[in-house]
Amino acid sequence: MIGEALARFHSLADLSADEVQGLLALASRLQRHPEPQALGGKLLGLLFFDPSLRTLASMQAAMARLGGSSIVLTPGRGTWGLETRAGVVMDGEAAEHVREAIPVLAGYVDSLGIRAFAGGKDLAADLADSTFRAMAEVSPVPTINLESALDHPCQALGDWKTLDDLAVPERGKLVLTWANHPRPLPLAVPAAVVHFAAARGMEVVVLRPEPYALPAPVLARAREAAARSGGSVVETDDRAQALSGAVALYAKSWASPVHYGDGATEAALRAGLHAWRVDLDWFARTHPACRFFHCLPVRRNVVVTDAVLDSPRSAVLPQAHNRMWAQMAVLHRLLGGSR
Ligand code: CP
Repeated sequence: MIGEALARFHSLADLSADEVQGLLALASRLQRHPEPQALGGKLLGLLFFDPSLRTLASMQAAMARLGGSSIVLTPGRGTWGLETRAGVVMDGEAAEHVREAIPVLAGYVDSLGIRAFAGGKDLAADLADSTFRAMAEVSPVPTINLESALDHPCQALGDWKTLDDLAVPERGKLVLTWANHPRPLPLAVPAAVVHFAAARGMEVVVLRPEPYALPAPVLARAREAAARSGGSVVETDDRAQALSGAVALYAKSWASPVHYGDGATEAALRAGLHAWRVDLDWFARTHPACRFFHCLPVRRNVVVTDAVLDSPRSAVLPQAHNRMWAQMAVLHRLLGGSR
C-alpha cells in the first residue's frame, strides 16, 4: 500500500503497483520538499563487490540528504576478500565467508546495500540470483539490491521516474535494443528494464540479434507484469518494424544466453555486429519526440554515437540524477522516515 514501510528492496517485481506508485510519488516529493532530518541517526552499509560510479555516489548522497550516514566496503580492496559460495573449502584468496561477514556488518548498520554482479559463466546460477540471495538471506537488517546477477531495481525505479518526468506516454512503445560492446555484459539491466516498462503498461519491444534473445524466465516475468498492467512484451530482430512509432529507445548490451560463458565464441559473433550501434538514423521512423535512454556507463561510438548522446534526445543525465531521488524514497520507506 502507498505509504507503508518496506521490509527490503530486492526487485520491483516484489512490489505491488500501489507500492511502486507510492515510491515514485515520494521520490518526487523529496525532490520538491527536502527532508534533511528524516533519517537522522540512521546508518547505511554499502557492500560493493563490483565497481560503480552512480550507484555508490547516489546512495551516499541520498543517505546524507536525508540526514543519515553511510559506510562503504569493497571486499578484497581494503577489506578481507569474501567468499559467497556455499560449501566450498576456503583455501583460496577469500579470508572470510559472507555467512559471517554479513551478520557482522548488520550489527553495525540499519540497512545493507549489496552490489554483486553476475558470475557470467553459469546461466542457471545467474538466473537464480543465487549470490545476492545467499547474502540477503543471512542479513538480519533490510537489504537493498544495488545490482545483482538478475536485477537492478534502483535503476528501474529511477528510469520509471525519468519516463514520468519526461511525460513519456504510459501506453507508448519502448524499444529495448541490444547494442554491441567489447565484452559480454550481465543481464541485470535488460531484465530490470523489460520488467519495469511492462509493469508501467508500455508496449515493450526487445530488439536484438537472434543469439541475444532474452532468457525465457526474464521474458516470463516481464509478461506477467504486462498481463497485470495492460502492457505487452515481444522480441524481434526487425529494426525498422521495432522502431516504428517508438516513444523511448533504451540501449544496452548483454551476453548471449546461448553462448553464456564462452567468451571466444561471443567475441567472434560480436565482430559481425558493429551495425548494432545506435545513431541518429535509428530515429527516422520513431515518434518525433522519441528519447534515448541508457543506464550508463556507456562506451561512446561503440554502443551509441556522440551525435545521439550529445543531442536533445538523450535522457541519460536525467536518468542518472533520478537514481538519487528514487533511492531516497526507498531509504525513507526502509528506514522509517516520517510519512
Ligand atoms: N547505472 C549504474 O548502475 O551505474 P554504476 O555502475 O556506475 O553504479
